[in-house]
Amino acid sequence: MAGGRGAFNSRFVAVMALAGSAIGLGNIWRFPYMVGQHGGAAFILVYIVCSLFISLPVFFAEGILGKSTRLGTFGALKKTAPKWRWAGYMGVLAAFVITSYYSVVGGWSLDYFVRSLSGGFRGLSFADSAGVFSDMTSSTVEVLAGFVIFLGLSALIVLAGVDKGIGAFSKVMMPLLFVMIVVIVVHSLSLPGARDGLDYLLKPDFSKLDGPAIAAALGQSFFSLSLGVGCVLTYSSYVKEGENLMATGLWTALFDTVFALLAGFAVMPAVFSVQGLEPGAGPSLVFETLPVVFSRMNPVVPVIFFLAVLVAALTSSISMFEEVAAWLIDEKGVSRKKAVLLVFLAALGLGSVCALVPRVFSACDFATSNIFMTLGALVFVLVVGWMMPKPAARKELSSGGVFFDIIWFFLKWVCPVAIVAIMVTNLL
Ligand code: PHE
Repeated sequence: MAGGRGAFNSRFVAVMALAGSAIGLGNIWRFPYMVGQHGGAAFILVYIVCSLFISLPVFFAEGILGKSTRLGTFGALKKTAPKWRWAGYMGVLAAFVITSYYSVVGGWSLDYFVRSLSGGFRGLSFADSAGVFSDMTSSTVEVLAGFVIFLGLSALIVLAGVDKGIGAFSKVMMPLLFVMIVVIVVHSLSLPGARDGLDYLLKPDFSKLDGPAIAAALGQSFFSLSLGVGCVLTYSSYVKEGENLMATGLWTALFDTVFALLAGFAVMPAVFSVQGLEPGAGPSLVFETLPVVFSRMNPVVPVIFFLAVLVAALTSSISMFEEVAAWLIDEKGVSRKKAVLLVFLAALGLGSVCALVPRVFSACDFATSNIFMTLGALVFVLVVGWMMPKPAARKELSSGGVFFDIIWFFLKWVCPVAIVAIMVTNLL
């Protein structure tokens, strides 16, 4: 039972931990520019519909598997549907791969946070800024140092345990993260370009809502809610016995979406306040474009911003780290200490390669977000929707209402079709 494995001791802690996993780099750099590229408010609308009807049922499928078995990803699948246990290995492997390359970006955020502390962005031009980023990524020592410290921090939090480490860290850091982003939003909205930034983000343009835009909305919603890997499954195996998973899931999705929108309001007005900057720039938006914007602002702003990026990345990375550690603890019977050390050393190996060889980094990113995550999500909904009795699923979600029947219908019939459709779109 849950006792020996650790547990989140209240709903608040469980929601903060799950929101911590969900809210990450995906919300800060990916969501704002995707919205801008794919039709503003029209995209946000599709994103919310996808989150409610496709992503939430996947979230619940993972939650039901974790809570009913009280095991990590591999153990939960082995117990519920032994033939599908290969997908458990896949989930753990995906979590391991994501931990490794995500920690590289975590290391960059740490590096930028330290730079901002010493006022390192003052008077920066765009060319200088691109130079700072490429100097950092091509300096082996600098990149490895940031990566190792970031991974080490994740390891320490996971080592402290489910409640005293992950729960305690998320409980304090997540509310703080919201405060930090709100401070930046207020500041950004007071800048001269705020209107254009808001227009870029919010002006609905339904003509841009084509197939790829819808697939992008669904893919982003999956990535943002940490679905398909088993992180939600693993965390759900630590919730209290009577926990209402339905409420937990709804709160998590609400916080994740609100944070993504806030990140958009923080980033886009700032980008538009400086002439000639490119809003749709992916990772370089955070590490090349924003430092230029920050160079003209109060030096406290970049400190708060990069601290927020760092915290958001850490609370996500610990969820993947924990998933891999949980597999070793549950299935191989090793102690938490030993499990954390093993995951740390293995991720140190793969992450160092990701940090130094950009092609490996991109391959890890591509394979996890386009193949492992969607395939994992497909297995989770098929196992729960087609191999688990409906009353058992209803009991785990602690919901008897008609809302459950709607969720169940989507989980069983709509999710598998939608997931296959995005897999195909992503791979074409
Ligand atoms: N949800 C995280 C983000 O938005 C990324 C993530 C994916 C975390 C999968 C865990 C598992 O950045």
